[in-house]
Amino acid sequence: MTSTDKPSLMYFNSIGSAHLGFITVTEPGLNMPFEIKRVYWTYYTPQNVQRGGHAHFDLHQLIFAVSGKITFYTETLAGQKDTFVLEEPNVGLYIPNLVWRDITFSHSAVLLCLASDIYKSSDYIRSYEQFQSLRSS
Ligand code: TYD
Repeated sequence: MTSTDKPSLMYFNSIGSAHLGFITVTEPGLNMPFEIKRVYWTYYTPQNVQRGGHAHFDLHQLIFAVSGKITFYTETLAGQKDTFVLEEPNVGLYIPNLVWRDITFSHSAVLLCLASDIYKSSDYIRSYEQFQSLRSS
């Protein structure tokens, strides 16, 4: 199994000013790497908790920390490990399919995820051993 893409940060415009506040926009055909079919957000994750612990067979995601600081520890099927810190609302993390991720959150961080498909539990790879075994398949 192969995936050519790697996770990467995407920088979006901040429209506004310090005294007014800002708006950041993503639109199909303008600056979105895929068509959005689902949006979800996670919040109130305690600081000592690690979420994630999975990869997806097909799902692509664009993820923002709209509030607080969120750290992603990623690993591609090729074995490349990276750490991405999201703490600016105009910076997103694009995660293609077949990328393992663990996630930690600062106090009151809010994660916004734009996803390329509806929720399918069958798309999850929740065993790290199964993920590693895909390297050779
Ligand atoms: P999960 O994707 O494992 O969260 P995280 O990566 O943040 O740790 O999902 C946690 C639970 O929520 C799991 O039981 C599946 C459920 N869930 C849905 O029902 N629909 C969804 O769109 C998502 C993202 C999760």
